[in-house]
Amino acid sequence: MAKWDEGYVTDVAYVSSFYREITPAWLTTASLVLGHRAPDLAQPFSYADLGCGNGFTTLVVAATCPQAVVWGFDFNPSHIEFASRLADQAGLRNVRFVETSFAELARLDLPDFDFIVAHGVLSWISQKNRRHLLGTVAKRLKPGGLVYLSYNVTAGWAAMVPLRRLMRMLTLASPERTDLAVSGALEVVNRLKDAGALFFPAHPQLEKWLADLGGLDDRYIAHEYLNEDWHPLSFADVASEMHEAKCDYIGSATLAENIDTISVPAGVSLMLAETHDPVLREMLRDIGGAQSFRRDLYRKGVAPMSGPEQQMRLHALTIASLGVAMPEDGPTFTSPIGDVTGRPEIYQPLMDMLESGWVSVEQAMQSPAFAGHPWVELLQAFSLLIAGGYAHPILPPSGTDARRTICRRLNLAIAQTNAHAADLPLFASPVIGSAVGGDILETLIAGILLNDGWHGDEAALTTELLSVLGRTGRSVRRDGQPITDPADRARVVGEAVAAFLGKRLPVLRNLGVL
Ligand SMILES: C[S@@+](CC[C@H](N)C(=O)[O-])C[C@H]1O[C@@H](n2cnc3c(N)ncnc32)[C@H](O)[C@@H]1O
Repeated sequence: MAKWDEGYVTDVAYVSSFYREITPAWLTTASLVLGHRAPDLAQPFSYADLGCGNGFTTLVVAATCPQAVVWGFDFNPSHIEFASRLADQAGLRNVRFVETSFAELARLDLPDFDFIVAHGVLSWISQKNRRHLLGTVAKRLKPGGLVYLSYNVTAGWAAMVPLRRLMRMLTLASPERTDLAVSGALEVVNRLKDAGALFFPAHPQLEKWLADLGGLDDRYIAHEYLNEDWHPLSFADVASEMHEAKCDYIGSATLAENIDTISVPAGVSLMLAETHDPVLREMLRDIGGAQSFRRDLYRKGVAPMSGPEQQMRLHALTIASLGVAMPEDGPTFTSPIGDVTGRPEIYQPLMDMLESGWVSVEQAMQSPAFAGHPWVELLQAFSLLIAGGYAHPILPPSGTDARRTICRRLNLAIAQTNAHAADLPLFASPVIGSAVGGDILETLIAGILLNDGWHGDEAALTTELLSVLGRTGRSVRRDGQPITDPADRARVVGEAVAAFLGKRLPVLRNLGVL
């Protein structure tokens, strides 16, 4: 272990993931729904991602917001190298990745920021580094700026504390690289359970946790659980430190959690309604929902909008479909109290409207399907369609053409990177200012189409895709296993191309990706 890493896992790089909740499009929508003015995305703004990892979300933010100056900070040189290389490949000029620790960050000469985000960082660092990170927030956030902090919560993680400590000890004692030592550590934990250790029946939720761990990437497990520092936090402590930084809590970026009736049991929802102290409310909510992870939104300076101003701005809120089919019984939303199904009489007309294009709250209100419905109900439906991944707010349409050119370059860079070894199954969308999921083959097909255009020849596209796969040695998999038979491989690739052209292409066109 090197001294600079302070016990954070650095012998293996983190996985590259995308987090929709830290994009400006999402943050401003959440802030608006919560009744607080957000930085104007039609104007230039600045954005900082603290502990950006491989920087994939940071890159999507830069590509979808060319008017912004975007910064990513992380102390792991492998992360910064990966992110910088992809930025260069995509020709992104408005993003800078800086290799720095949180301690050094506080001393750097930086601009002030409209947005500061730290996803999955706060509970994985020491208290000293948390102070450094929040010190940067205090020093660098503009008045009216938004902060996003996500972290593990004590209420949901109390039982895992000793087990994760044990796993850390076991991996430290192993001569293997941290990710390679994961299976050995898990074996010991499972042996302990099978040997009848009383800790497990005393904490029944461990059963599911251990089962879930089995399906995760070992690099993810290494960074998630095997650092020296791993401290689930209480909302009250984070809110108090943020208050010192002149920032106050405005709500959750997990949109469904702002709706009490679906995020905690009914009796707890009543208690929340009776509780006026915002910090106490959140503490009750965390225990009420056995909350394990929070995505907090804070604002520097709390000046809620007047009702009429919020309503006027909300009328303009416009969403686009993400092409996810709605189940017959209505859309389902995952919540701490289980899956919640939306009423089809509200959601079906909205989904129908979304099929034919973007829909604003105002347009929906004027539709006969919602005549007589309270507008708050409609707004809740918009929030839940966004939260459930059925729809996404769009960015101000004025800059879409410029964004489209830059996203095209990033999507090409993603396809090129995936052709070799990377695992970035995503497309940046200039319409929604976010990324939409795909699979690796889809990114490669999109790469061909972005390079050559679509000439309507499915067979030629299949041949070209097979040739890309052949040149790069990338395998095609079924049920996780590489397909070795060439005819079988050609058939599977042909089916993937047909499915892409039939189902994905229209959605990706609608989102400005192709
Ligand atoms: C769990 S990862 C989250 C990465 C990214 N935000 C994401 O969600 O994919 C935490 C990140 O914080 C970085 N980090 C940890 N301690 C740090 C420190 N003291 N200074 C700067 N970066 C640090 C790690 O290198 C890692 O990339």
